[in-house]
Amino acid sequence: MFFKNTVLYVFFLGLPLVISCGHATKQRVHAELKQEFSTMAVPVQGTIPSWLKGSLIRNGPVTVSVDGKHNEHWFDGLAMLHAFTIQEGNVFYANRFLRTQAYDTVFNKKSLSYAGFAVDPCRSIFKRFFSLFLSSGPHALNNANVNVAKIADRYVALTETPLPVEFDPVTLETVGVLDYKDSLPHRDTWESAHPHCNPVTGDALSYLIEFGHQSYYCLYTIPANTLERKVIARIPVDRPSYMHSFAITEQYVILVEFPFVVNPLSLMLTSKAFIKNFSWQPERGTCFTIVKHSTGEIVGTYRSKKAFFAFHHINAYETDEGICCDMVCYDDASIIYDASDDMWEEQANRTIFHKEVKRFIINQDKRTLAEKTILRGDFEFPRINEKYDGKPYRYVYMTKPDKLWHAHEIRPLYKLDMEKGTTITWSQEGCQPGEPIFVADPMGQKEDDGVILTIVINIADHSSFLLILDAKTFTEQARATVQHQIPAGLHGQFFKLC
Ligand code: CO
Repeated sequence: MFFKNTVLYVFFLGLPLVISCGHATKQRVHAELKQEFSTMAVPVQGTIPSWLKGSLIRNGPVTVSVDGKHNEHWFDGLAMLHAFTIQEGNVFYANRFLRTQAYDTVFNKKSLSYAGFAVDPCRSIFKRFFSLFLSSGPHALNNANVNVAKIADRYVALTETPLPVEFDPVTLETVGVLDYKDSLPHRDTWESAHPHCNPVTGDALSYLIEFGHQSYYCLYTIPANTLERKVIARIPVDRPSYMHSFAITEQYVILVEFPFVVNPLSLMLTSKAFIKNFSWQPERGTCFTIVKHSTGEIVGTYRSKKAFFAFHHINAYETDEGICCDMVCYDDASIIYDASDDMWEEQANRTIFHKEVKRFIINQDKRTLAEKTILRGDFEFPRINEKYDGKPYRYVYMTKPDKLWHAHEIRPLYKLDMEKGTTITWSQEGCQPGEPIFVADPMGQKEDDGVILTIVINIADHSSFLLILDAKTFTEQARATVQHQIPAGLHGQFFKLC
């Protein structure tokens, strides 16, 4: 419950919440949804388009506590899936934790000693990095709390370590590890939780980092209906970069190496948490590597002297001008450290991070890399109409996350017109929207013919709702409300279930 005369602070990508009463000690208030709801009907206000059928499934870390202590870093919360299923204009909701080793540690062993993104192994069991953060066995069930996807006709939860965790899209029950049938490493690698579909073949396409005396970025594809990852390219790298996502075009994969890098040898010997081994080395600049995905050929590398960091690529595509690559950029990588609890107290009043939606243009004939700012502001979780992934496009949908939250503040959803640099918004006082997911109208012709789905937290009345907006006008079409606060999450997808 919330109290009068309090100020609520929210970490940048969503909740964990802390409360401030004047100068009183801040404390967490909710973010701990331990209850699981089996599929239940949810009341709907408004009218849902008749063509909209399927399920929005969203993943995210849920902060948990044991004996009054909680996760140090938001990204280390337990993976929980939420599903809003739409059938014939009705909406049903369910949520469920993934049944992982981390879940077992918390709920059965009553301990927080599970390895994670920023969990210090010394705090739990002193072991080396590889035996802790990365999968603890070939069939370990990962705390896959970042994204969901459909790979080889299976529904899987993803994080940045192997392997994906398969779940039932109707009941959200955990099925087990999705184990690949191939010779690529099945553990001790770093993975992307943002795979793409090859725009030509439709096959899944992603990358992993193999750490070793010689490390590699390994691009691979998964042909339809197989569990075999086929290597597109193995690119040697001395100091692997933390890259949360990447971009594709119709011909190319674009890897953008931010100067937030790790010495792989020290990583293997460290007792520090994974992400704490990375360091910001701005003198390295930012390197764009262009790989032809049909052949694996590296067709160019382009270095920007300017250091910057990004979690999320928006899109990339080819034009006569060159390859356009769009991202939500930060000045540096300090945003990662800011997600840890020990930083919250001292930085709760820090100003928001400087972000820009930027377009980089790579001209392969002139061998040039140019950049321009499309929009300055506080944005994250950019999504587009996925049919335009890798192709010329115009519209981006984003949220305005903020670590400072006042109960009556406005946190809009944005639709950005990349051609004009203009936005339209949706907002409601006291409400925090999550990632906006575009679903195309099957009869639509234009890029923005469809709806935006997002899960909104209503701070004011401690509830949450699925919001359905007309993507063209950003007018509300319907909402379906559950009477509990869904912890802020990360990424989701809309699946057309049969
Ligand atoms: Co992400």
